[in-house]
Amino acid sequence: MASVPAVSLIVPTFNEAGNIDELLDGVCAALPEEWDVEVLFVDDSTDDTPEVIEKAAVRCPMRVSVLHREVPEGGLGGAVVAGIAQTSAPWIVVMDADLQHPPRLLPELVEAGERAGAELVVASRYADGGSRGGLDGGYRMAVSGVSTAVTKALFPRLLRGVSDPMSGFFAIRREAIERAGREDGAGQDGGLRPLGYKILLELAVRCRPRGVAEVPYEFGERFAGESKSTVREGLRFLRHLAELRSSDKRARMVAFGLIGVSGFVPNLLALWALTGATSLHYAVAEVLANQLGVLWNFALLDFLVYRSAKQGHWAGRLLGFAALSNADLLARIPLMMLLVEQAGIGPVPATVISLVVVFLVRFLLVDTLIYRR
Ligand code: GDD
Ligand code: MN
Repeated sequence: MASVPAVSLIVPTFNEAGNIDELLDGVCAALPEEWDVEVLFVDDSTDDTPEVIEKAAVRCPMRVSVLHREVPEGGLGGAVVAGIAQTSAPWIVVMDADLQHPPRLLPELVEAGERAGAELVVASRYADGGSRGGLDGGYRMAVSGVSTAVTKALFPRLLRGVSDPMSGFFAIRREAIERAGREDGAGQDGGLRPLGYKILLELAVRCRPRGVAEVPYEFGERFAGESKSTVREGLRFLRHLAELRSSDKRARMVAFGLIGVSGFVPNLLALWALTGATSLHYAVAEVLANQLGVLWNFALLDFLVYRSAKQGHWAGRLLGFAALSNADLLARIPLMMLLVEQAGIGPVPATVISLVVVFLVRFLLVDTLIYRR
């Protein structure tokens, strides 16, 4: 090798005092002395983890420091992003502090990337030779298996070659993150908006690293303390998936269409109730009932599809959305007449064409004007 690898090792910690000595000993023993390594703990602890780290660091030949966050933003993922911003080596390696990720694999992660010319190397429990031994109980095993399968199905192209997108143990070239930031004008952190635990997923989807390699490993038992993952973390993960998926315009359009179709249910229910319980003319009743469908669509879109793109007050967005949705109805009639009378198209295909055109125009207007995507 022409030059020795330079690595920033980032370890997120939340009350891991009992694991630090074992971890640092393992890390120091694993990494070749001539490598240029800095270890950064990004700590959100409420116990004495930072003091324990400072004490243990003295025994280590490499640079070890602690970034203690008084305001822990974004949980584990936020900690990793903060760590990326604080370090500078071309290779970034992320690992947990509880020794479920074996430190002796550290050199192999970087070497595999150098060898294959890959920008991302994932330590995988699912690759041949890996295992999920340390996942306590069939329940966590099943949850992990299902969420991995769903995630891979949602991002077939971007996660090609990544058998373990939920891994918390991986190496990535800083250049991949910086390039992503330059491309979408988001700055050095590549526009990362991690939500909770799944930082690798965030990096793989948003940064599109060139080339992926994997190193199989056995997910060990926790050395000391207990896991910080919770059911709430699971819900955060679902929101994270929705948000990542909808950063793609085509996927947003599909979601827009599906939500639009689902809006027929409240619309029809309201029409049925209004015509049954009042003496309103059915046309007036439909105009009113339509508003319920609009409200329904808005709530789902605003909460799921455009969660991270919201601008201004929700009432403003709702007003704009309702105006566009109602204009939709008005615009379709002249469009149909144009198609039938000027272009000589039959009324049924003309209706289909006008529905599609109006849908596309409405999607584009909502997407760009209301949510500026
Ligand atoms: N700074 C910071 N802030 N660190 C945190 C936080 C937080 O809010 N929450 C957890 N951590 C740290 C823990 O201290 C530990 O070092 C690491 O993140 C992982 O937390 P665990 O609670 O041990 O997670 P797990 O074992 O259930 O799951 C881990 O391994 C899986 C397999 O690789 C995570 O890394 C998962 O994302 C991963 O899928
Ligand atoms: Mn763990």
